[in-house]
Amino acid sequence: MATINANYDKLQSSYLFSEIAKRTKAFMEENPGVQILRLGIGNTTEALTATVIEGLIKGVKKLADTKTYTGYGDEQGDIRLRKELVTFYKKRGIFLDTQEIFVSDGAKSDSANISSIFGTESIVAVADPVYPVYLDSNVISGKKVVYMECSEDEGFIPNPPKGKVDLIFICSPNNPTGAVATKRKLRVFVEYALKNKAVIVFDAAYSEYISDKSLPKSIYEIKGAKGCAIEINSFSKWAGFTGVRLGWTVVPIELIVEGTERGKVNSLWNRRQATMFNGASNIVQEGGLAVLSAKGRKECNKLINYYMNNAKIIKKGLGKLGLKVFGGENAPYIWLKTPREVSSWDFFDKLLEEAYVVGTPGSGFGRAGEGYFRLSAFGHKEDIERAVKSIQNNLKL
Ligand SMILES: Cc1ncc(COP(=O)(O)O)c(C=O)c1O
Repeated sequence: MATINANYDKLQSSYLFSEIAKRTKAFMEENPGVQILRLGIGNTTEALTATVIEGLIKGVKKLADTKTYTGYGDEQGDIRLRKELVTFYKKRGIFLDTQEIFVSDGAKSDSANISSIFGTESIVAVADPVYPVYLDSNVISGKKVVYMECSEDEGFIPNPPKGKVDLIFICSPNNPTGAVATKRKLRVFVEYALKNKAVIVFDAAYSEYISDKSLPKSIYEIKGAKGCAIEINSFSKWAGFTGVRLGWTVVPIELIVEGTERGKVNSLWNRRQATMFNGASNIVQEGGLAVLSAKGRKECNKLINYYMNNAKIIKKGLGKLGLKVFGGENAPYIWLKTPREVSSWDFFDKLLEEAYVVGTPGSGFGRAGEGYFRLSAFGHKEDIERAVKSIQNNLKL
């Protein structure tokens, strides 16, 4: 008799976005004709750049001719793309080999699947609040999870756990708080991991939003990190690939865990991917090459600046009201402390009913997010301006 994986029953229901949709729909039905302003989603809205479109078209055209047609590709990803990613890191003083890079269909699947190569008994530490995939994927695989609180006092970046854990999931810039770990903070994590023989899974999906040169964009900027960290990244947020789908994961050869030799963890991830994934689309990888070209980088930087200008508009506009706002400087998220300690969900209702603006309750990203609220800078500038104006004019503080 087949049985289900009962760990699925241990998941909190995917309450956050369905509840947001439910409350928004109910409000719209009660208030027909009202225009809802959305600052809730972490989804890109602006068109792909000209160079990227050219790259994607080139990928399509190659498939139209038998001489240039390709079917299944290199299992770790197109070697040209991996070489460009090696260069991408080299410019930051990080030296990788193409064998250490695994091209993926985005950061979500890799961040959810990576713990499958580690022992089922592993204890996993996840930041709180954070992108919910790390928690849910580890609950599904039956691993024990402990939390690292991202408190206001610590700038919304966690400290390593007090006890011994085996896997640590951190995300910098952090979704939802928009906070970025300093080199000093990452050094503490690397030291912890090396001492406890733990592995850090570092999600750098928003790294290209970091403009402050003193802040690390990659965990490999920290000495010793190659011995204890896996880094996951994506083209989604900075090149507009949320729907196109492309990312990569770095598993250093140097990374060793209990009972393994050099290269074993890297070869395990290769085995896992070769067994359960058939590679990113060849068309899309051509688009990724275009993103990494000099022209592509320049254009994507404009895209980043566009969203970061939105962040500035939100942060300034809300700051003027006397609200306590964080993030939004090296990340496209603004993290807001709810006024008078109202709960995240009560603030959601208040913002919707008074200003017609939809945001995301901080408590949906973890218990430590209670009393906070996330606003996203992804959106058209005019819509962002309209939403901020409406908050300024209508929110009763
Ligand atoms: C921290 C973080 N990692 C990963 C992802 C997913 O990225 P991708 O589109 O590459 O799967 C998101 C998406 O919102 C995210 O916020």
